[in-house]
Amino acid sequence: MIQENQTLPENLPAHIAVIMDGNGRWAQARGLPRSAGHRAGAEAVRIVVTECRSLGIRHLTLYAFSSENWNRPKAEISALFSLLLEFLRQEVPLMEEKGIALKVLGDLDGLPLPQRTALRHAMSRTAHGREMILNLALNYGGRAELVRAVQSFLREGASPEMVTEKSLAARLYTRDQPDPDLLIRTSGEQRLSNYLLYQCAYSELYFTPTLWPDFGVAQLHEALAAYAARSRRFGKTQEQINVS
Ligand code: IPE
Ligand code: IPE
Ligand code: MG
Repeated sequence: MIQENQTLPENLPAHIAVIMDGNGRWAQARGLPRSAGHRAGAEAVRIVVTECRSLGIRHLTLYAFSSENWNRPKAEISALFSLLLEFLRQEVPLMEEKGIALKVLGDLDGLPLPQRTALRHAMSRTAHGREMILNLALNYGGRAELVRAVQSFLREGASPEMVTEKSLAARLYTRDQPDPDLLIRTSGEQRLSNYLLYQCAYSELYFTPTLWPDFGVAQLHEALAAYAARSRRFGKTQEQINVS
């Protein structure tokens, strides 16, 4: 366990992606409605965004609503979307002040109008932020993202030679951003749930039993320490890594 006052490792990830899971179980354990778990989860988002910004993490990508989450009860979906509006209202002015640019990964057009409007406004208001990019994956699915990229090639009448890893990556929501170095999933589940399937090809995976509302600065530091202790080889041998 890393104490908050301990020094942090030098090699921090440039891009952290998070699957914020366990809000429902956090609420259930307290005899509260699931929406209370999501509210507590939004607080954890504030804490983690603030800490990443002060650590100088350049890209943070949070999975907030998957394309599969439409299968949840209507009341829960509307509670989540109300929280999103509340979050934007409170956080966008602060984000602007701190140089954080907000981006949305996912099908914005499939979101309800008030959320779509607030997100567009938030994105344009923070677009000049140069310190950090906060990506919110909303109405996002990794497979749908790949299908969309293929469709865009076809629409342009691209020849097979024009389809490369680079040109494909340029058609993803994350275009111009580095791949996640570290993927964190909370709540003990060990799966990707259709998240950043292409981009996480070489990400270090970190799973923690902590439920998302309980994830704070200390837990983030712990994940960063675990990441720093990993040996990323990208297909090479450890000996090759050692001499380079
Ligand atoms: C993650 O927490 C938040 C969203 C998926 C929006 P869950 O709501 O999935 O919490 P559990 O997995 O039911 O505990
Ligand atoms: C993944 O969590 C999606 C988000 C965190 C937004 P889920 O709770 O929806 O994932 P599954 O259904 O357990 O795989
Ligand atoms: Mg879940």
